[in-house]
Amino acid sequence: MGRRAHTNLKDFCDKNERFPLIGTLIHYFRTFYGYYGNKLLILCLIIFIGSSLEGFGLSLLFPILSYDQPAAMNNAYIRVIYQFYDWMGVEVSLFSLLALAFFVFVCKGLLMFWQGAMRTRISTDMVKNLSLQFCQKYADMKYPYYIDKEIGFLNNLITTELEASVAGFGKFTEVIVTGVSIIIYLTAAFLINWKVTLLVIGICGIFYVLLRGIWHTAGRLSIEVSEKNAQIQSLLIQMIYNFKYMKATNSFAALYKQLLKRFEDRRKSQFKNIVLGFIPSSMLEPVAIFFLSGLILYYVVYRGIPMSEIIILLMFFYRSFSRLFGFQVAWHKFCSCIGGVKVLEKMTVELEQNKEATGGNLPKDFHHDLALRNVSFWYGPRQVLSNINISVPANKTIALIGESGCGKTTILDIMTGLLVPGGEVLVSGQNYTAFDKAFLRSKMGYVTQEPVIFNDTIANNISFWSEKYPPEECRRRVEEAAALAFCTDFIQKNEKGYQSIIGDKGVKLSVGQRQRIAIARELFRDPLIMIFDEATSALDTESEMLIQQSIRSMLGKRTMIIVAHRLSTVKVCDYIYVLSDGKIVEEGKFNDLYNKEFGIFRQKCLLQNI
Ligand SMILES: Nc1ncnc2c1ncn2[C@@H]1O[C@H](COP(=O)(O)OP(=O)(O)OP(=O)(O)O)[C@@H](O)[C@H]1O
Ligand SMILES: [Mg+2]
Repeated sequence: MGRRAHTNLKDFCDKNERFPLIGTLIHYFRTFYGYYGNKLLILCLIIFIGSSLEGFGLSLLFPILSYDQPAAMNNAYIRVIYQFYDWMGVEVSLFSLLALAFFVFVCKGLLMFWQGAMRTRISTDMVKNLSLQFCQKYADMKYPYYIDKEIGFLNNLITTELEASVAGFGKFTEVIVTGVSIIIYLTAAFLINWKVTLLVIGICGIFYVLLRGIWHTAGRLSIEVSEKNAQIQSLLIQMIYNFKYMKATNSFAALYKQLLKRFEDRRKSQFKNIVLGFIPSSMLEPVAIFFLSGLILYYVVYRGIPMSEIIILLMFFYRSFSRLFGFQVAWHKFCSCIGGVKVLEKMTVELEQNKEATGGNLPKDFHHDLALRNVSFWYGPRQVLSNINISVPANKTIALIGESGCGKTTILDIMTGLLVPGGEVLVSGQNYTAFDKAFLRSKMGYVTQEPVIFNDTIANNISFWSEKYPPEECRRRVEEAAALAFCTDFIQKNEKGYQSIIGDKGVKLSVGQRQRIAIARELFRDPLIMIFDEATSALDTESEMLIQQSIRSMLGKRTMIIVAHRLSTVKVCDYIYVLSDGKIVEEGKFNDLYNKEFGIFRQKCLLQNI
């Protein structure tokens, strides 16, 4: 279950994946509908009305410009406009035509503004909501899934890919806007001249077929960029995280090399993707002018129709043509963002599948005892625990000891429900799985092997921003917990006392001080079950004795599980389990184990001069 080196492209996309227009359009409409719900439908409706008004407004220029030409009545489209006036009971005049065109464009302008504002509202809401949703999904994921994922990948998802996905939504709405306006334009164009309209559709159809390959490449490249982003973030996080070591040993060069390669790979993919995007847009005008020249030659030279009569027709077809091409450009842009959308889509499903089961009973009568029955555990194919039986009666203290890597932390992670083993974990006499995990964990304190410190004040690190108590009581409790964990001394030496900021990972404190702050936090929480994993490993003998005193003061009041290498710490425990290579090899009370001739525990004690 070790962290994977890199998140692979094949996790998100088959290299040969195609992005067929209609299929992809429908698929992403469904995806975005899942995110945005009915807002997406309302947006589409506004887009549709806005585009209809634009088409209608522009088409009004046609009767306006041919107002005084009786021959214009031969045109089916102009007849429709006149019939519309008849139906409205308004007389056709230059003034009424101009007034209508003005009114239509004002409405269209307002709708376009509304549509833009709505799109922006949806996008900004989306960034906020999706960020929150993903934070929640991260909090809900199973621990084994978390240890299998790269931190850079998870970080990249919530920062870069989420924004890219929302940008993808923006591009998708552009696709819809152009798609809808094409339908409207083509309908009007059909009424004006169906033969030329069919020609326009035919030419654009040919270009669609020719440009298809570019879109598939754009989609694939954008997924490649997402993959590289994750890898870059992963390296950057490690560089910042391990800054002290890298600086002291001047080891940046090796990491730079790795970074440089990935920056270059990403640059190449981005470059190709952007340059590909220029192909459809730079083809638009030459192709359009070529097409229009053909039309002009046909009408003016071959059919002998004066230029003034076909100018509106030409303008209309130029716009239809640019819309059709514009659609291809918008589609390309969407394909270029598909990486973010796809990664987010896939991760939504994956995180859902790897969600830790919630719910379960709230025990009526909670006895804070714990037991492992025939517990075995495997990290992937490797068995690290076999047949473990441990009982921790309520308010008793047990110790787990054994050589490094024998499985002590794994047992603690099983007790907190982070890892699910084979066999049974019993809490309060019942199977762990029957209980609401959130409830159980709220009753547990865990001083982990690496002290957990947040970049905030000492007071907040101990109270963990608790709002459970009024400020005065909270302050008192923080001070009490700090005193019990023997932190008072070094806190008072700090200029700002409890309000000193202790830096990322607690860099402004010594390791032993961090351990004591971590212990104080658990004491502040005052849980019924307390777990210490090597809580005193970084302390000098004197400080360790002080901590032992504080552990001793808790004896009989809480259920405690203590992991310690220094055996002096476990003297006070009610029962000791000695582990070796994932098995319990000895167990008993301190004195019994100590007096056992040739016993492993005795040997360990003698080695430590106990
Ligand atoms: N995420 C993981 N994936 C694969 N193997 C793991 C993982 N975590 C731990 N292990 C392996 O499981 C074994 C038990 O690890 P564990 O952390 O429980 O040991 P430990 O007894 O706490 O050691 P230490 O005293 O050094 O903290 C080790 O051999 C370790 O290599
Ligand atoms: Mg450990």
